[in-house]
Amino acid sequence: MELRNLMSDVCERCSGTGWELVEGKGVRPCKCRLSNRKGQMTAAANIPRRYDNCSFENYHPQGNNFTADEIFRSQSHALNDAQKLAREYPVLDVGLLFMGPCGVGKTHLAVALIKVLIDKGIHCLFYDFRDLLKQIQDSYNPVSNTSELRVLDPVYDAEVLVLDELGAAKPTDWVRDTMTQIINTRYNDKKLTIFTSNYPDDPDSPNEESLTDRVGVRLRSRLYEMCKVVRIKGEDYRLKIGSNRGRK
Ligand SMILES: Nc1ncnc2c1ncn2[C@@H]1O[C@H](COP(=O)(O)OP(=O)(O)OP(=O)(O)O)[C@@H](O)[C@H]1O
Ligand SMILES: [Mg+2]
Ligand SMILES: [Zn+2]
Repeated sequence: MELRNLMSDVCERCSGTGWELVEGKGVRPCKCRLSNRKGQMTAAANIPRRYDNCSFENYHPQGNNFTADEIFRSQSHALNDAQKLAREYPVLDVGLLFMGPCGVGKTHLAVALIKVLIDKGIHCLFYDFRDLLKQIQDSYNPVSNTSELRVLDPVYDAEVLVLDELGAAKPTDWVRDTMTQIINTRYNDKKLTIFTSNYPDDPDSPNEESLTDRVGVRLRSRLYEMCKVVRIKGEDYRLKIGSNRGRK
């Protein structure tokens, strides 16, 4: 069984050598090299498996499309902004900050965007900001045998970086300083960063925290320069997935 799988993975054009024989002309690099490279770049991008299937094609703006209510408009605009950046990068080089409540598709759109960029051969990386901070913290632990640089180098090197869940980590001084350092470095290198966050700029109630409360004034102001804020409204799509499953 395994052998058969292995066999079917071998490219028919070049028998896995990477070189295609062209009658009377010799050899040329096989097209499979390109798709292998795409596969490697996708694997290196660290996209969570849960989001493997997310694309622009399967993001359907929710809300009422007949009345074009606030929800529908915000989700359509979010999709448009993401598609525009995917199309026009690197000419368009302003990042996006998807801001909105749980389950409105912020991570979905960020992943869909970097998938298109990876198809264009652009080196992208995805990180949940909390995981990244945790990995940096662990790198100080002598047992873990990783260095801070080993964790941070790819984050600085990636041409396009997604930092998911900005503000979700408990904002200690260390967390704020580290976030600021990472984002500042990318800003100074003029590298594109895409953010998602649950924290709004203007919370509905005084009990709720704003993004500034979570990340600090300095970082919030830096983000204004780096990104276009894309506010997404709507209900949690996960509830919809859940209730459809219940009906089956
Ligand atoms: N408009 C949509 N069309 C299709 N699928 C959607 C849409 N919105 C969300 N989803 C799906 O719903 C799930 C939740 O979306 P996602 O994880 O992107 O939400 P989120 O805004 O990042 O939420 P959180 O703030 O909790 O991180 C995913 O499986 C995603 O593919
Ligand atoms: Mg998310
Ligand atoms: Zn081949």
